[in-house]
Amino acid sequence: MDFDSELKRRGFLKNVAVATAASSLPGTLAAGQDSNVTTSATTEQSKIGVSISINAQPRQLEIDPRTTLLDLLRENEGLTGTKKGCDHGACGACTVHIDGKRVLSCLTLAATLDGKSVTTIEGVSSGETLHPMQEAFLRCDAYQCGYCTPGQIMSAIACIDEGHTNGDVEEAREWMSGNLCRCSAYPNILAAVRQVAGETPPADPAELATVISLRETLS
Ligand code: FES
Ligand code: FES
Repeated sequence: MDFDSELKRRGFLKNVAVATAASSLPGTLAAGQDSNVTTSATTEQSKIGVSISINAQPRQLEIDPRTTLLDLLRENEGLTGTKKGCDHGACGACTVHIDGKRVLSCLTLAATLDGKSVTTIEGVSSGETLHPMQEAFLRCDAYQCGYCTPGQIMSAIACIDEGHTNGDVEEAREWMSGNLCRCSAYPNILAAVRQVAGETPPADPAELATVISLRETLS
């Protein structure tokens, strides 16, 4: 191939590549069109309206249909109590309740929640009064870094509501197993769940152990 032919071949390939890239864009631009205007118009058109109750507050939202519930809560609504751990449904840090049932908000598209009621960790207390599960987590020292804690508490509340404790410690452990804790606070988390379920007295498990060993020593 001579030098001129090689140049023409390269020019042809370059033009094909540019044309292909342009045609694959949503809303290909007409000559002279303002790219910013077209992009934002396309984005606005693709938004959809959803009506969701978040922590008992009715919200009328216009959202990108690709938005996950986790991103909606954290980025749009400023409810950062719900944590993003893996963002892939593997850790449970993002657990919230939808109509009273626990879900992983990182795997839930907000657009599917029209008419639904979402509760996050910010919505379980009543003003300054903590939810009994929050109190039990404090009493049992059921956290270290605290990153997994909101998801653990949301799961723990649902675990009891779903009837998965029933005095069976293994059942409670199994139904809490979707919530990972990198600090390994599992024994104390389980102690908190069992206390709220009424299976053990509401006490700091460490204090309880001290009382029991004192009793054994004195008897
Ligand atoms: Fe959703 Fe890990 S962030 S399961
Ligand atoms: Fe640190 Fe659970 S308390 S990850």
